[in-house]
Amino acid sequence: MEWGLRLALVLLASLCILLDGSHFRGGIISWRPLNSTVTGNYTTILIHQRYFWWRNFSSFPVPLCTEANVIAGTPITVSGAILKCMKNCASSNFPTAGIPANMITSDCDSNLLIESWGGELYSNLSLHLTTDITIGFNSSAWLGALYHGGGLGWSIVNRLKLTPRPDGYINSSPVTTTLPCILYQRNVAVVHVVQMSDNDASDILQCRWSNSNQTYNYDQVDECGGVCGGMPPSTGLTGANCTLTFTLPNANIYYAVALQIEDYYDTSSPSPMSSVPIQFLFYAYNPGAGACTYVPSIIGVRPNRACIGVPVGVQLNETVEIQTYCPGQAIIDLVTSSPYGMQHSKISNPSTGLWIMTLTWTPIANQLGPQGFCAGAIDNSSLQSAPWCITYLVGYDSPNLILPVLVQGSASPIGTVFSNQSLFSIQATSAVGRPSRNTTNVCFHYDSTNATVFCYDAGYSPNVIYTGYTIVIVTNYVWTPGQSYYVTMDNGFASGSVFCHAESLAITDKTFWRFDIWNPALSSTTTTTTTPPTTHTVTSLGTTTTSINTACTTSGIVVTSTNASTTTTTASTTPPTTAAPTTAGPTTTGVTTESTIPVFYPVDFENACKQPVAIMSAVMMVAFMPIQALAMYAAFTKFSNTFKPSNTAAKTRHQQRMKNILRR
Ligand SMILES: *[C@@H]1O[C@H](CO)[C@@H](O)[C@H](O)[C@H]1NC(C)=O
Ligand SMILES: *[C@@H]1O[C@H](CO)[C@@H](O)[C@H](O)[C@H]1NC(C)=O
Ligand SMILES: *[C@@H]1O[C@H](CO)[C@@H](O)[C@H](O)[C@H]1NC(C)=O
Ligand SMILES: *[C@@H]1O[C@H](CO)[C@@H](O)[C@H](O)[C@H]1NC(C)=O
Ligand SMILES: *[C@@H]1O[C@H](CO)[C@@H](O)[C@H](O)[C@H]1NC(C)=O
Ligand SMILES: *[C@@H]1O[C@H](CO)[C@@H](O)[C@H](O)[C@H]1NC(C)=O
Ligand SMILES: *[C@@H]1O[C@H](CO)[C@@H](O)[C@H](O)[C@H]1NC(C)=O
Ligand SMILES: *[C@@H]1O[C@H](CO)[C@@H](O)[C@H](O)[C@H]1NC(C)=O
Ligand SMILES: *[C@@H]1O[C@H](CO)[C@@H](O)[C@H](O)[C@H]1NC(C)=O
Ligand SMILES: *[C@@H]1O[C@H](CO)[C@@H](O)[C@H](O)[C@H]1NC(C)=O
Ligand SMILES: *[C@@H]1O[C@H](CO)[C@@H](O)[C@H](O)[C@H]1NC(C)=O
Ligand SMILES: *[C@@H]1O[C@H](CO)[C@@H](O)[C@H](O)[C@H]1NC(C)=O
Repeated sequence: MEWGLRLALVLLASLCILLDGSHFRGGIISWRPLNSTVTGNYTTILIHQRYFWWRNFSSFPVPLCTEANVIAGTPITVSGAILKCMKNCASSNFPTAGIPANMITSDCDSNLLIESWGGELYSNLSLHLTTDITIGFNSSAWLGALYHGGGLGWSIVNRLKLTPRPDGYINSSPVTTTLPCILYQRNVAVVHVVQMSDNDASDILQCRWSNSNQTYNYDQVDECGGVCGGMPPSTGLTGANCTLTFTLPNANIYYAVALQIEDYYDTSSPSPMSSVPIQFLFYAYNPGAGACTYVPSIIGVRPNRACIGVPVGVQLNETVEIQTYCPGQAIIDLVTSSPYGMQHSKISNPSTGLWIMTLTWTPIANQLGPQGFCAGAIDNSSLQSAPWCITYLVGYDSPNLILPVLVQGSASPIGTVFSNQSLFSIQATSAVGRPSRNTTNVCFHYDSTNATVFCYDAGYSPNVIYTGYTIVIVTNYVWTPGQSYYVTMDNGFASGSVFCHAESLAITDKTFWRFDIWNPALSSTTTTTTTPPTTHTVTSLGTTTTSINTACTTSGIVVTSTNASTTTTTASTTPPTTAAPTTAGPTTTGVTTESTIPVFYPVDFENACKQPVAIMSAVMMVAFMPIQALAMYAAFTKFSNTFKPSNTAAKTRHQQRMKNILRR
């Protein structure tokens, strides 16, 4: 009798654990040294842990988290949460008792399909360089409603190896980020890319399934507990780009994914230098009767997978814009995975089909380095957008393209040029490199119609050359005489040289960088009139100087009067041989109009070309590279137009997307 009662109690207790103890929903463990240079026998590393939990777990001291817990940075207290050394511990001074694995709240999602409580934690440790251990966090239990492994124990492990790399530096592990839960329709083929990147840019990254019986994480440490092989058997994985291909067979349950991302020194390395676990969930749904054919999409303001430099201690305001495609399609939730301290506004619906969430975040010094943010929007038929992930590089400044305000200043050419002009260049505020994403375009447009003449994809085009602070674009196009053109550049056209290549903002303003093509047909040698090119608005030059021959375009074409509409003055002044003042010369009484487009008349152009400097400059354009070595001529034209490139870029993407949809 007593025995029977005890058995009943034990059964009841274990049932409770099964129902309520199942609260783990995945996570990530990665690390990096604060300084990768070897000094002495120890180095300080920063270990980053992020875990996702079931929000309803009754043993949490805070029963159901809210955004208030995100703002307060409430600790997620899980009893016995310790990141331990699991194997080869004698090689290291890693604390025997482990380090805490209780997270600081960063995301709370009350959507009934998600119900996720997420947090992260950074820990500092000074470890001996002989350290070569497997660290991990294992306990029980996984979420119950899993396709495979529900309610079983979890295990998430990382290989931490500090012995110097072949290049003599201390390794940094790869970094990755994910949403806690991604919703996909049942029985639909899915291609899902898991993000991965590495501070050591030359490392080769591979991802593989976590498993319970392999040798890299010492002596068959179990890497995935109950969710090894948690996906349907037909799931494919391409290791080199960490791309999963699968079809979820059953609806209304979750599927756990457990992967290890590993960095190899080079293609001939037999084994990786570290192993970063990433575990998260998919959820399969049957679309409701009223569901839209198209899932919502996040259209910006930033493009997916952008990398943005942000300073410490300055509030960042980021807008997530979501597009819906059907009437009655309402965005009810934005699943996020955020750096801690980032606050999420309520979702607003400023116009039909557009939904907005504002993120505010003031990065603190502890968050220096890359910080990932991911979001996925869910509508009221459970359709979820593709994940949209941004990396913030805390403590770095993104390069930005410098607004050309001076002749032979930051962009070349501006003003009037020959129709065979083929070298274009622009400067950024810091050293730049090629963007890491394709379809980052630089485009030339007709000023009159805004039509695109042609574009180059800066992601790979050999016509776009990055050198130091300067980007050179080599065109192979004969410009139409008398036409005006302008240049636009996508987000990330100029990318920083650090880590994920922090990106410049897009330039979509047509006054940012423009040039006119000299029309010889309207030259004074063929006609005696001074009729301006018909494609231009008549504009005067508001500023020029009298002391030096200043009203020059970058091609060395000179305007010799204080007002471009006066054409009688012949070139007579001596060209400058030294650096000219960078400020505007005395302003003349010449007529100024509100237009900011400098226009040159053919006669001016011809007069100018009589001048030695002009001819030399026109012919020897090539010698003008790099432009920053050149003396800056006086102020030429001023673009006071305010512009908000990021907003315009989002609108453009929106329009493009709408076009794509209509085309389908
Ligand atoms: C890393 O340490 C080396 C040697 O102490 C030092 O020269 C270097 O400036 C440090 N780098 C950073 C980024 O702190
Ligand atoms: C580093 O370790 C080696 C061997 O363990 C020891 O001989 C040496 O004195 C140590 N150096 C420092 C600076 O502690
Ligand atoms: C979790 O809590 C929410 C809010 O109390 C409730 O609506 C929901 O049904 C709970 N979920 C489960 C699976 O019990
Ligand atoms: C956790 O991992 C350690 C080391 O591999 C193992 O001894 C232990 O049994 C595991 N615990 C659980 C609950 O899986
Ligand atoms: C695990 O691997 C070892 C050696 O590689 C092998 O002997 C053992 O049978 C494997 N165990 C399982 C369960 O596959
Ligand atoms: C990943 O690589 C495979 C094989 O090279 C390729 O077929 C696939 O298109 C790639 N996926 C993505 C998203 O780039
Ligand atoms: C973000 O908004 C706050 C409050 O409106 C403002 O003080 C701050 O300067 C903004 N940050 C940036 C980078 O614009
Ligand atoms: C979604 O919400 C909108 C507006 O609240 C409503 O009109 C529509 O019927 C809902 N759709 C579904 C499938 O519930
Ligand atoms: C780690 O240590 C460095 C140097 O002592 C300190 O600046 C930083 O704030 C620490 N970070 C954390 C997360 O404790
Ligand atoms: C471009 O055209 C101008 C005027 O016709 C000519 O002087 C110059 O040599 C040409 N430049 C090149 C690179 O062909
Ligand atoms: C970009 O496009 C080029 C040409 O199509 C291709 O060779 C290259 O692999 C692409 N790069 C990426 C990162 O997709
Ligand atoms: C060209 O674009 C500008 C601003 O983007 C707009 O004001 C203008 O109307 C457009 N012109 C044409 C012909 O579409």
